Amino acid sequence: MCGIVGYIGKKQAAPVILDGLERLEYRGYDSAGMAVYDGSRLQIAKSTGRLNVLYNHTRGGEALPGFVGIGHTRWATHGMPNDVNAHPHVNKSGTIAVVQNGIIENYLALKKKLTDKGYEFVSDTDTEVLAHLLDYYYNGDPRKTIIKMIGHVEGSYALGIVFADHPDVLYGVRKECPLIIGVGKDEYFMASDVTAILKYTRKVVYLNNLEIAELREGGMEFCTVDEDKIEKETVTVDWDVSAAEKGGYEHYMLKEMMEQPKVVRDTLSPRIKKGEIVIEELAMTDAELANVKKIFIAACGSAYHTGVTAKYIFENLARVPVEVDLASEFRYRDPLLEKNDLVIVISQSGETADTIAALRMAKEAGCRILAIVNVVGSTIAREADFVMYTWAGPEIAVATTKAYSAQMAALYLLAMKLAKVRHYLHGRKQQAMLNDLMKLPEQIELLLNNREEIQRIASRFIAAKYVFFMGRGIDYAICLEGSLKLKEISYIHSEAYAAGELKHGTISLIEEGTLVAAVSTQPSLYPKILSNIKEVKARGAVVLSITTMGNIEIEKESDYVITLPESNPLFFDSLAIIPLQMLAYYIAVGRGCDVDKPRNLAKSVTVE
Ligand code: AGP
Repeated sequence: MCGIVGYIGKKQAAPVILDGLERLEYRGYDSAGMAVYDGSRLQIAKSTGRLNVLYNHTRGGEALPGFVGIGHTRWATHGMPNDVNAHPHVNKSGTIAVVQNGIIENYLALKKKLTDKGYEFVSDTDTEVLAHLLDYYYNGDPRKTIIKMIGHVEGSYALGIVFADHPDVLYGVRKECPLIIGVGKDEYFMASDVTAILKYTRKVVYLNNLEIAELREGGMEFCTVDEDKIEKETVTVDWDVSAAEKGGYEHYMLKEMMEQPKVVRDTLSPRIKKGEIVIEELAMTDAELANVKKIFIAACGSAYHTGVTAKYIFENLARVPVEVDLASEFRYRDPLLEKNDLVIVISQSGETADTIAALRMAKEAGCRILAIVNVVGSTIAREADFVMYTWAGPEIAVATTKAYSAQMAALYLLAMKLAKVRHYLHGRKQQAMLNDLMKLPEQIELLLNNREEIQRIASRFIAAKYVFFMGRGIDYAICLEGSLKLKEISYIHSEAYAAGELKHGTISLIEEGTLVAAVSTQPSLYPKILSNIKEVKARGAVVLSITTMGNIEIEKESDYVITLPESNPLFFDSLAIIPLQMLAYYIAVGRGCDVDKPRNLAKSVTVE
């Protein structure tokens, strides 16, 4: 996600902030900016593109005098990457400056309220509402104003705030997004990530949710939203820069896997309002949506796998026919596209060449294009008719994990919305599904916390020559992704099989000790997969089952079992994929592979 750096002390703030922002560059960003109090007013500098543009523009920060300030590297979520949308954002009189990481879920409602009260907005961001909201509530007491503001804000955020009429204080507050305070000698730092400040101090205070930090040259204070003072412990961080960049994890891939509960929550919760799914980005009326006769899904790699799962869900729930294709096949197979068919393209980067070509071809045929994309302003986002962003933040590891999970979450919302307008989903069934959907983030967290068990299982298969994944229906789609994860990072050959196909060829490859990962999450198919497990066991396979709780027969037949928490069967992709990602990760680590940068692979495939 974005990066925040703040400073108050005896040094000139701008060069320190720039230095901190530079250390956050690895997280990815598209623009940057700073606000510094120069002794009489807040001076703002922003620029699109690399940090050196801002650096040159401010002569390494020298052009912005002053000892207190905040800075930000932005990775666009709401609004294109440009100077206006870059942070900090200010109120009309330029006396309050805010930088933000995260997502303000109710920003449109807040924007409307503020606009009705005469506030004018210059950017497309969700952050700008915070600057105007602070202005609206400002009563001369920044702390009380911040508390009042956060009482009206929904979402996840970390904020750095400076008030021109209280320039001796730097304010910070967070909810769900990280924010830390660095403690120096008569100086304090604020950062979204410890990497930004390691050069200056290793003494750090971790802010908890809804705690407010007030930093002055002479000391720091913390309070709750009830204005109760709190004592916070200062800890010493002994990470080196490389470990700090990965949040203390060994690899970006592990860090990104651990971020999955948050990204799934961030994708889901802004689009569920008062018990209904609201996809504002999909500017089609309910009637238009209900009349969609056919859906095509085109994507590559893991994004294609989310499409395979989505086909099962859309057809089951919304009873609408779906064709899913690898984008590289779709573009050359002359599909029978009709005007007004809905074509969904899915992509993390938004720059995958084959997916772009599929989009253009479908557009040419008069189809409506909905893109599910992570990178704001990417080619796919610009060319599609409608864009549903996944807001997973920058993904650095080549093997996708958190973007995959966010795509899956977006597809659940779409499937449910479609089922609703087509009258297949309402009342108690809808409520029960929404409850299960909202439980996914914590269930994913539960599974991630179980990683030692997977690590133990993985340690037995580090020398495996090949691995099979088998499942039926949605479980087959999950196997496709589990198998891709394993082969791309561990270089072990693996194949995903629709379990019913085993007897048509693959079973001849099973020999003593072959690892078979069997995914069984769909109750109607348990007896079928049980037979398949027995068949491969009889030929010497070692079976790792990923299944639901209480599946005694399957547990009895399997050598290893990972059980998943209860959910709606249509949502199990999001749960079953977690142990499979971890299996791939720990096997690859055990084999000494370069997990984050597997050989021969690029993060974004921009050529055919
Ligand atoms: C998955 O781990 C891969 N890195 C790859 O299959 C990827 O999903 C594919 O290249 C599609 O990329 P995109 O989502 O950026 O379009």
